[in-house]
Amino acid sequence: MTNNLLDEKYWTTRYLNKSTAWDAGEVTLPIKQYLDQLINKKIKILIPGAGNGHEVIYAFENGFKSVHILDISQTPLKRFEETCLDFPKDQIHHQDFFEHEGQYDLILEQTFFCALPPILRIEYVNKMKELLKPNGKLVGVLFGIDFEKEGPPFGGDREEYQKLFSREFEIMKLEPCRNSIPPRIGSELFFMLRKAQYSRT
Ligand SMILES: C[S@@+](CC[C@H](N)C(=O)[O-])C[C@H]1O[C@@H](n2cnc3c(N)ncnc32)[C@H](O)[C@@H]1O
Repeated sequence: MTNNLLDEKYWTTRYLNKSTAWDAGEVTLPIKQYLDQLINKKIKILIPGAGNGHEVIYAFENGFKSVHILDISQTPLKRFEETCLDFPKDQIHHQDFFEHEGQYDLILEQTFFCALPPILRIEYVNKMKELLKPNGKLVGVLFGIDFEKEGPPFGGDREEYQKLFSREFEIMKLEPCRNSIPPRIGSELFFMLRKAQYSRT
């Protein structure tokens, strides 16, 4: 990854200091409800920047056996491994997202995009596209507001995301999130993107 001071050490320190206000403590409603309506449980799913992995546990326990967890910090992954004993070890990736290799049907986004310095947003889009199979989807939530304090989290708005993602994705949904968890009501967008066959770059 280029030009990023928000490195492994930064995130591990946040976990060790328990400075993890982003952690909802359980699967969040937008991701839960999205997973609940999926019929095909055989799909290969990646959740990058998953932290303690509440969404991963929920998916796994609800039949999505090919869900993968990835995080740059080992600290939450260790906790995850200790909590979810029957989770396949080869589906736990302690790695920088930008160095990960694989092919997924679905990638779920939750408070990972906003954790990255905005300078990496184009790289994020390109990497997501690379990691998705043809017709693969990137689905989840993004902050649709700007924050007063310097991030993370780094915010944004619908127009900016529209422009950013339409380079490489067909935008199926990008709208105010109707089922945010209480602290995030009114601040999130729900989005669903399909890997495009074309590229505008
Ligand atoms: C704001 S936290 C969100 C964690 C989790 N998604 C949640 O909702 O609880 C951002 C996470 O992204 C991870 N992260 C940051 N940069 C990363 C990178 N380049 N590759 C993989 N993980 C990264 C951090 O370690 C952290 O766990």
